[in-house]
Formats: sequence, C-alpha cells, structure tokens
Amino acid sequence: MSNLNDKIATTLALLRAAVADHGPVTFANSLGAEDMVLTDLIARHGLDITMFSLDTGRLPAETYALMQQLRSRYRLPLHIYYPESAALESLVEQQGVNGFYDSVEKRKACCHVRKVEPLRRALAGKGAWLTGMRRDQAVTRGTLEAAAFDTDNGLWKYNPLLDWSNAEVWEYIKANDVPYNALHDQFYPSIGCAPCTRAVTPGEDIRAGRWWWEDPQNKECGLHVGKSTPLKFASIN
Ligand code: ADX
Ligand code: SF4
Repeated sequence: MSNLNDKIATTLALLRAAVADHGPVTFANSLGAEDMVLTDLIARHGLDITMFSLDTGRLPAETYALMQQLRSRYRLPLHIYYPESAALESLVEQQGVNGFYDSVEKRKACCHVRKVEPLRRALAGKGAWLTGMRRDQAVTRGTLEAAAFDTDNGLWKYNPLLDWSNAEVWEYIKANDVPYNALHDQFYPSIGCAPCTRAVTPGEDIRAGRWWWEDPQNKECGLHVGKSTPLKFASIN
C-alpha cells in the first residue's frame, strides 16, 4: 500500500501543479480503469478540473452504463462531445458504417471524425488536458512524459498515471470501491469502440484487443502519438 500511497501523492502534486501553472485544466475521460482512478481522485480532493468524454456513437453498452453510474456516484459534470453530424454522414457515405475494417486509412478517417475533431472542440480555451495513459500500456507509449506541451493541440498535456502499474490501478479501484466497466471482468483490459475492441487471452499485450487486425505500431487513434515495451496480459485485475 505504501508504494500506492507514494504514487497517489505524486499524482495529486502533479494535478495541483497543472491547475496552478496551466489552468483551466480538463480531463479526457474514456471511463477505462485508469480514467476511473483519476475521476475518483479529482472528486475526492475537490480539484478544479473539468471532465469530458468523446462519445463516438459506437461505444459498448457497458461503457454507457458506467457513464450513467459515474453521474450518480460522483455528481460531477461529465461533458459529452459528439461527432459533427455532417462530417459523420459524409464519412459513412464514403466508406460505409464499418469501413474502418478495410484499411488503416479508413480506420483513421473514422477515428478522426468520431474522436479527433470532437477532441479539438473539447480542448478549445483550455490551458492543459489530462489523460489516463500509462507508459507500459503499449509500444506506442514508452516515451510518454508526465507533462509536455502538446503542439498538435496548442496546450499542455499531462499523463498523471504515467508510472502507475496495472496492479496499482486495480489496487486503488478495489481499495476505494471505484465503479468500473463491467467488460474489464470479461478479459477486456483496454476498451474503446465496440466494433474495434475484443477480449484478450493471457500472454497477449493489454492492447491486443484494440484494432486487433492492425500492426501494433499503428495502434493509436489520433488522440495521442509516441513509443514502448508492451505489457503482457496476465490477469484482468
Ligand atoms: S486510445 O487509443 O483510444 O486513445 P486508450 O483507450 O488507452 O487509447 O485511451 C487513452 C487515453 O485517451 C484515456 O485515458 C483518455 O484520457 C483518452 N481517451 C481515449 N478515448 C477517449 C474518449 N472516448 N473520451 C475521452 N477521452 C478518451
Ligand atoms: Fe471508428 Fe473504430 Fe475509431 Fe471508434 S475506434 S472511431 S469505431 S475506427
């Protein structure tokens, strides 16, 4: 527990520094396990940080259920951003509702309309944003830093759980009775859109179930970029 307490203290110090140095701060909340830890920390410590979620329109039913649960448990506003309707209609006309399976380009086009463009709107007017990314989550995340200027979006970007292990995330969730996505108990360590996420088996990378038909080096949706050593999936939590 002491290791976890140290991680919590470091994370809280970073969150407070983000607010003091670069506020207003907003948190991109996907409702994954890491993001539920951040939600709980922000609520518990009354931090001056807003939260938003990008609803792609293709999220699993379990994620919507958790969104509703978060609302009643924490009573914090979670602003939901949706894709721009004209852009979505045009995308679907060009590549079909499930065109993302055909090529990396079509997949990225879908992520752009459903996530990247709404993210731009969510970050407008903010001085910093937070994510729940951890360094050992993926080959694309090894060089992440706790805080860095995000030149793509023109504001600071913080990864306050950067050095937490998967075990620490789950230790926090269990110790604080934090609600979490029911899919995590069905071998889904990483959860995105329903058609682009599947369960993994022991020994697979924790993000192996995301865009499983693509090369691991390409597996970022455009919200983030970066590099690392994949973490093997041993047990769910
Ligand atoms: S990603 O490739 O989909 O971005 P992942 O699911 O591991 O990867 O999410 C990493 C971080 O990106 C999350 O901790 C969260 O901060 C942000 N994020 C991802 N999806 C969303 C979403 N739908 N809404 C808000 N934030 C998101
Ligand atoms: Fe589209 Fe899949 Fe990206 Fe969701 S994860 S926005 S469904 S390509």
